[in-house]
Amino acid sequence: MSTAAAPDRLVYAREELLASGGYDAPLIAGGVRCHGGFEASGRYRSPRTLHRGPAIAAWQARLAREGAPLIEIPRALMPPQYPNVAQSTLLLKHGVRDPIVRTLTIISIVEGFGAVIRDVRIPKLGEIVVEPIEGTALAHLGEGLFEAHARDESGFKDEGGHKQMWEAARDLALEKPRIPGDVLMRMMGRSASRGRRPERPFPMLDETLERMLALMAQVLVVEVFAEGTFAWGVELLSNPEVSAAPEAAGNMVRFVQADEKPHVEYLRTALSELRARTLRTVDGKTIAGREVVDRLLHRILREITRNRPREQREDIRESLIQAMQIVAKPQALLEEFDALESQWTPPERTGFERAAAA
Ligand SMILES: [Fe+2]
Ligand SMILES: [Fe+2]
Repeated sequence: MSTAAAPDRLVYAREELLASGGYDAPLIAGGVRCHGGFEASGRYRSPRTLHRGPAIAAWQARLAREGAPLIEIPRALMPPQYPNVAQSTLLLKHGVRDPIVRTLTIISIVEGFGAVIRDVRIPKLGEIVVEPIEGTALAHLGEGLFEAHARDESGFKDEGGHKQMWEAARDLALEKPRIPGDVLMRMMGRSASRGRRPERPFPMLDETLERMLALMAQVLVVEVFAEGTFAWGVELLSNPEVSAAPEAAGNMVRFVQADEKPHVEYLRTALSELRARTLRTVDGKTIAGREVVDRLLHRILREITRNRPREQREDIRESLIQAMQIVAKPQALLEEFDALESQWTPPERTGFERAAAA
C-alpha cells in the first residue's frame, strides 16, 4: 500500500479515504473499465487505498499502543466451498459447466449486494461511547469507510467493481457461457424462506447502534470466509485444463482478493476499538463494548458454521444433478463427484463464548 500519508496520522477527510491516486494503466475487465489499476512496475494497486491503507495501519497501531487486542476470526471456522476445487474441475472436464457458471454468478451477485453498507445508519457514536473516539476507524465509518467499501463491491459511476470483475473472470475462463436465467430468483427464494425475524439481542442498546454493529459483525465474518471462495476461484480459474484464460481469469480473482483486505481490516479495527470501550445504554447504565461485540460475533459464527455448508449444498445440488444428465453415464459421474466431497465438521467453539456466556 502507498505511504502518501504520515504513518501516525489518525484523522482523515472523507475525500482522502475515497482517493485512489494516479495509476500507470487502468484495469480493463471484459471490456469494462474497472476500479484499481497498475503501477509502472506492473503491480496491481487496489482502489481508494492511497490514504485508506495508511489510515487503517495507523488506527491498528494505536490499538496496539493502547494494549487493546485486534479481533481475529479463526480460520478453522471457515467452511469449505461446495463444490470444492476437485469437484469443480471434474465437472468442467466432463463439460458440465452449468453448476460452475451458477456458482460464479452467485458470487458476483453477492459482491454487488455489498453496496448496502453505504445505507447503514450510523448513530451518534460520540454520545453513546463513553471514551473518546476521535482518531479511530469508528469515527470514520461515515466519513468514507462505508462509502469506499460500497464502491469497491458494486462499482462506482462508470467504473466496475467486484461484481463486474467476477463476471469478467467467469466469462474469460468459460468463454462467455450462457447464464441460467433463474440464479437471482433462486437466491431471493432462499433468503425469503429463511424468514428470520430480526431479533434484538441487546434491547438495552440504542437500536441504530445495535443494527449497525450486527451488520458490521456479519459483514466481517462474510469477508473473512470469502478467503476460501477466492482461493477456490484462483485455483480453478488458473487451471489451463479447464480455464480458457488461466492467467487473465486467475489474476482477476487475485485483484478482487487484494481489494478485500482493507474491508476485513477496517471492520475488525472499528469493532476492536468499540470492544475496548464502554457503551451507554438507553436506561442510563453502561455495558462493556466487549460483551456486545463478542456476543454478536459468537452468534453469527455459530449460525454460519452450522448452516452454511448445508445451505450451499442445497442451493446447488438439484441443478447440479440435472446438469450432469448431459454426460453418457450421469450416475457414475455423480458418484465420482460425491467421493471428492470435503469432509468438514464445524469446531465446537467459536472462541468468542466467554463474553457470550456473560
Ligand atoms: Fe468484494
Ligand atoms: Fe469486500
